[in-house]
Order: sequence, then C-alpha cells, then structure tokens
Amino acid sequence: MQRFVLGFIVAILVLAAVGLAVVFTGAFNVAASVPHTGLETWVLSTTMRNSVRRHAEGIAVPASIGEDQVREGFAQYRQSCVYCHGGPGVDPADWAQGFTPEPPFLPDTVRRWRPQDLFWIVKNGIKMTAMPAFGGHLDDRQIWGVVGFIQRLPDMPAETYERLGREADQPAQPGGTGAPSSAATPGG
Ligand code: HEC
Repeated sequence: MQRFVLGFIVAILVLAAVGLAVVFTGAFNVAASVPHTGLETWVLSTTMRNSVRRHAEGIAVPASIGEDQVREGFAQYRQSCVYCHGGPGVDPADWAQGFTPEPPFLPDTVRRWRPQDLFWIVKNGIKMTAMPAFGGHLDDRQIWGVVGFIQRLPDMPAETYERLGREADQPAQPGGTGAPSSAATPGG
C-alpha cells in the first residue's frame, strides 16, 4: 500500500514536471500555420460546442425578427463577417485561411446551431480562435438581426446576396434631390 501511494505521488510529480517543461521550454509549437492534431481538434471543437449550448441555455428567442432588422444584419455581415466566413457566391479573404482553426463557411454550418446558440456566439465570440465578441458594440436587437440574416444563408442564392449588396450601396431615394448625382449607376 505504501509503495502504491509513493508511486502515485511520483507519477503526479512527473506529470507536473512535464507540464511545466512544456510551458517554460517553448516545446509546444504555437504556430497558426501548423494545423491542430486530430485529438486537439476533437477536444477543442467538442468543448466549444458543449460550452456554447450550455451558456446559451435560457436565452429568450424573439418570436420574430423584423425585415428591417434582418437587412441591418446583412449590412453588419457584409461589413464584419464575410471576410472570414464567406457568403453565397463570395469566398472568404485569402488571409482568413491563415487562422487556426479556419473560420467555417457559414452557409454550410449555420444549421447545426439553435438561434440562441448563434446569438451567444456572435455576442461573446470564441476564446482562443479568431471569432470576435460583437457584444461590445452591437446591442441585442442588432445581434438578433445578424442571427436572422445568417439563418437565411443556407438557402440564399448568390444573386440574392449580390442584390442585397447593390441595394445597400444605392441611395434610399433614387428620385431624391439631395443625393449626389454623380452616382455610377448606369441605366437608372
Ligand atoms: C477574424 C475572423 C472572424 C470574423 C471577423 C468573424 N468570425 Fe465567426 N468565427 C471565426 C472562427 C475562426 C470561428 C471558428 C471557431 C471554432 O471553431 O471554435 C468562428 C465561428 C463562428 C460561428 C460558429 C460556426 C460553426 O459552425 O462552428 C458563427 C455562427 C460565427 N462565427 C458567426 C460570425 C458572425 C455573424 C460574424 C460577424 C458579425 C463573425 N462570425 C465574424 C472567425 C471569425
């Protein structure tokens, strides 16, 4: 029994020494250019999925998200998300492929999540990945608009995404007098 206890203590000390050696010698490679191993990927993605689901518990999903809100969500997506996540007919930026983990192509993955999960992810971001927290500068109503928009991505044709972009770039009142007349919109 005494030998067992002694062996147990030695094992713990060896593990602690290995852990400290990894921290202090720089043996672990933090390069983003080296992908996670299969085991690391499993641990990180399983932890992430379960953490999001647990923390999103109790978030009240609004009965409906207004069209104006969704349109604002699109504007936000085009401004802040598409470079990393891509969109219908739009590839992510080249540099976004340099992140580890690589940002997922949202039109393919968004259906895996409940609306409250999506809200939580956008608001809080995901630690130790490139996914930022947007809760610091978007209010809950704006975040639900983003959620409403990204939930439509899987069914959205590329033409629709492009048209939304064109409409957002155009002045709201084509017949208005105050708009700059040099707008480069042929065939008005
Ligand atoms: C700088 C890059 C970057 C930007 C900008 C960014 N994200 Fe992310 N996002 C990531 C990465 C990386 C992950 C993957 C994290 C992981 O696998 O744990 C992620 C994960 C997600 C997920 C979970 C998807 C899944 O299938 O796991 C959602 C939803 C999401 N982001 C939405 C958004 C929205 C909406 C915006 C804009 C408001 C945004 N992201 C902006 C990098 C980014």
